[in-house]
Amino acid sequence: MTLLEVDDLTVRFPTDDGLVTAVTGLSFRVEPGQTLGIVGESGSGKSITSMAVLGILPRRARVTGSIRFQGRELLGLSEGQLRPLRGNRIAMVFQDALTALNPVRTVGEQIAEAIRVHDARPRRAELRRRSVELLDVVGIPSPATRAGQYPHELSGGMRQRVMIAMSIANEPELLIADEPTTALDVTVQAQIMDVIERIQDRTDAAILLITHDLGVVAGVADRVLVMYAGAKVEEGPVEPIFYETAHPYTQGLLASLPRLDRRERGELYRIPGQPPSPRHRPEGCAFHPRCRHAQPGRCDTGVPVPSAVGAAHTAACLRLGEFEGAGA
Ligand SMILES: Nc1ncnc2c1ncn2[C@@H]1O[C@H](COP(=O)(O)OP(=O)(O)OP(=O)(O)O)[C@@H](O)[C@H]1O
Ligand code: SF4
Ligand SMILES: [Mg+2]
Repeated sequence: MTLLEVDDLTVRFPTDDGLVTAVTGLSFRVEPGQTLGIVGESGSGKSITSMAVLGILPRRARVTGSIRFQGRELLGLSEGQLRPLRGNRIAMVFQDALTALNPVRTVGEQIAEAIRVHDARPRRAELRRRSVELLDVVGIPSPATRAGQYPHELSGGMRQRVMIAMSIANEPELLIADEPTTALDVTVQAQIMDVIERIQDRTDAAILLITHDLGVVAGVADRVLVMYAGAKVEEGPVEPIFYETAHPYTQGLLASLPRLDRRERGELYRIPGQPPSPRHRPEGCAFHPRCRHAQPGRCDTGVPVPSAVGAAHTAACLRLGEFEGAGA
């Protein structure tokens, strides 16, 4: 059975200027054990999507569409119905490990607490054993000693590992990692991605990996979904996304990646302009003011919808096939 099915998800917020649309008509699937990377610039609706799945959007958010987890509709469930799922079957790794951890409790106690919230049975010694084991799983050296330490005694990378240990404490079927490495330096980022891969091998959890960095998903994702201005612009298995890139926005993201084989010095490519605010989305294709393939009279009026460009590969562009793909 498909683990997570999101259909036509739309999230709006009432504001003083009227309704603001953060996510619009978004559909995707995650199969058991699969990693889906969701990529897009700031404000594209990535976090709002993950919050919708976890049922932690602000109350005033207006949500329509459907979010089914293991076949069960989550939209419309009460807080009491969602609580047993959250942190247990669906877990989340937050971006900022320092503020998410409790400064006055040891990391071992905090992991034990994460286990106990959903399983009151284990005794003290068993909780301690499992906490140390989890610290070991996420690659913390001397886990028994570290379990007795406080968050401030650990480096940023170590704290992020502790957060991951807490999120997998109950062996969730779905792990949502929202920018898990953004606050870390590049070496530590790579280590954290290794931990995420290792966890997947060990627990068979599906992972929703959210990032603004297309490079981060290359090594770990099975599928990639690219978002722009709240909507899906391209989705497919990781290889076609990188080698048969169809959408001009994804092509721009790829061209902005630092690459070892580009030896020339100078500034990295940047997609011109800024992503639009949800209050002022352009008419037609939301990407048209920044798109080098935009055609006046066409791209500023017609609204592109995802259409097939390959096996399980879709892109939402009115000019598909009319220009060269970026390739690798
Ligand atoms: N509570 C809110 N009220 C009104 N608008 C909101 C609210 N929360 C988010 N938004 C808007 O929804 C849009 C999507 O936000 P979201 O946080 O999902 O972006 P993101 O892709 O996660 O960006 P980032 O990479 O910066 O984390 C943003 O433009 C934001 O302004
Ligand atoms: S529809 Fe037009 S503006 Fe939008 S991505 Fe395609 S070519 Fe560019
Ligand atoms: Mg975000």
